[in-house]
Amino acid sequence: MRKKIAAANWKMNTTFQEAENLLRTITQNSPLLDANIQVVFAVPFPYLQMASSMVAETPHYNIAAQNCYHQKSGAYTGEVSAAMLHSIGVHYCIVGHSERRVPFGESNEQLAAKINLLFEYGIVPIFCCGEPLLIREAGTENSFVENQLKESLFHLPATQLAQLIIAYEPIWAIGTGKTATTDQAQAMHAFIRTVLGKKYGTAVAEETSLIYGGSVKASNANELFDAADVDGALVGGASLQAEEFKAIIAALK
Ligand code: PGA
Repeated sequence: MRKKIAAANWKMNTTFQEAENLLRTITQNSPLLDANIQVVFAVPFPYLQMASSMVAETPHYNIAAQNCYHQKSGAYTGEVSAAMLHSIGVHYCIVGHSERRVPFGESNEQLAAKINLLFEYGIVPIFCCGEPLLIREAGTENSFVENQLKESLFHLPATQLAQLIIAYEPIWAIGTGKTATTDQAQAMHAFIRTVLGKKYGTAVAEETSLIYGGSVKASNANELFDAADVDGALVGGASLQAEEFKAIIAALK
């Protein structure tokens, strides 16, 4: 059975103390979660170790980095490698968020290189894909997303593909308060699963977790998670509010 996932993307928010408090508030006295539910906190780099040690005893909670570099090591001032993440016990890493693809010019090929490095170090990539507004308005979102998947993922063997998490995040819905409708999210998730199925077979496509991101909050999580191909969410703004994010976790059921 594929996993249901609530992933928090804290982006460049919180001080160290705020991060500690937020994580404690969300994880303390948490209700018993089903075995197939995973909660992931993508925290800023300086808090990874603190956060990892805070959730070390709780199997449902995991920590993610928000990015890593596409080269293994070397003279890349200011960058963080997959090997570094591995060496401090990080098990997940977001790759290809639109807030990196667009302003930092990250290409599909660079993302493929990051994914290879993450797998080499046993870290699960949370691969983000999704179209900008102009593409949605032109009605070509399916081919746009299919191309992102092909260029960054289709070199992987099926065993690795089934392990990664794919987050569909239409750029026009991120941080805008404009959530895709459940029908729009479901249609794209079903399309992604079909694309994966054609390349890797239906069994692998059915095993892969597809989560939705873009203005997810407690008030729309239930409806989104009821969609057949939506296996959870990547949550930005609402993940910074403990009660909101706890309600989103609860909506995974
Ligand atoms: P948002 O961000 O929930 O604030 O729209 C989602 C994301 O960027 O992952």
